[in-house]
Amino acid sequence: MPKAFKPDLRWSDVTPRAAFLNRRQIIAAGAALAAGALARPALAKIEAAPSKFSTDEAPDTLETITGYNNYYEFGTGKGDPAAYAGSLTTDPWSVKVDGLVDRPGSYDLADLIKGQPLEERIYRFRCVEAWSMVIPWIGFELAGLLNTIGVQPGAKYVAFETLLRPAEMPGQSSGWIDWPYREGLRLDEAMNPLTILATGLYGDPMPKQNGAPIRLVVPWKYGFKSIKSIVRISLVAEMPQTTWNMLQPSEYGFYANVNPEVDHPRWSQASERRVGGGLFAGRVDTVKFNGYGDQVASLYAGQDLAKDY
Ligand code: MTE
Repeated sequence: MPKAFKPDLRWSDVTPRAAFLNRRQIIAAGAALAAGALARPALAKIEAAPSKFSTDEAPDTLETITGYNNYYEFGTGKGDPAAYAGSLTTDPWSVKVDGLVDRPGSYDLADLIKGQPLEERIYRFRCVEAWSMVIPWIGFELAGLLNTIGVQPGAKYVAFETLLRPAEMPGQSSGWIDWPYREGLRLDEAMNPLTILATGLYGDPMPKQNGAPIRLVVPWKYGFKSIKSIVRISLVAEMPQTTWNMLQPSEYGFYANVNPEVDHPRWSQASERRVGGGLFAGRVDTVKFNGYGDQVASLYAGQDLAKDY
C-alpha cells in the first residue's frame, strides 16, 4: 500500500473488481461489511447512478489507479503522488468562478456542485506517455455546472487552474513548470456530455494523488488535459495558456486528442501499454479519440488534426 493511504478498510479491500461491477453483490458486500465493521468508522460510499457512457472493459484495481500517477506538484516519479499527496488539505476547498459568467464568485466546493447529478463513469484513460488504464470515476457533467454558473455569449473557452500551495505541494518549489498547472477546453468540448468533473473513484471520494477534491476528466484527450485539484474555472474569449503547451509547444498541443496517426516527436502513439496488464502484457493498439469518436469526432469536422494536435 502506498504511504499516503488512510489505514481504514476501503471498499476495494473487501470487494473484488468483478463484484464492483455487479450492483447486487455490491449491496450484499456492503451489508456484510457493515455487520463486521462495528469498530471501524463508517464508510461514506458515494451514491451514483451508472452511465450509458461507461465502457464495459474491466476497471484497473484501486492499487494501480492510486499507485501510478502523474501529479507533478508532488514530484515527477510515478509513486511520488501516492507518497506525498497525503499532506494536501482538501477541506475546506473553494473554487473561484470568473470571466464571462452570469454568477461569478468564490464558492465553497459543496455549494458549487450542489444538485449536480453524480454518475459512475467507467472510462478508458490514455496518457500522452503511451500508457493507459480503465478508471471508474464518480462525477458529473461539466455542462451541468456551466449551465448553473451561466455562460455569457462571448465565451469561447473554459480555463482551469490547480491549487498553488508550495507549503503542501513540494514539487511547486521547483521552477521547471510555471505554476499553477493550467488547462483549458474549447466551449463545445467542455459542453460535451463525456466531459466530467470527477469527485471520486471506485465509489469513494477522490484520493489525493488522483486530484482531490475535484478534477477534470476528458476521456478522448491525453491525460494531461484532465487537470487535478481545481481551484479556478474561467470562461474566456481567447484560447487559454496550458501548462504542457507552454513548456513544449512542438510536443504538446492545445487539443491533445488521442490520435494514433499523429506521433509524439519522440515516440509513437500507435499503441499503448495497459498499466494493469503486468510487465509481460503486450501492447494494445491505440484508437483515435481513445475510442470515443462516435461522441466527439464531429467536434473537429473540417479541422486538420495533424496541425491542431
Ligand atoms: N493535474 C495537475 N494539477 N498536475 C499534474 O501534474 N498531470 C496530468 C493530469 N493532471 C497533472 C494533472 C497528467 S500528465 C496525467 S496523465 C493525469 O493527470 C494523470 O492522472 P492520474 O494520476 O489520476 O492517472
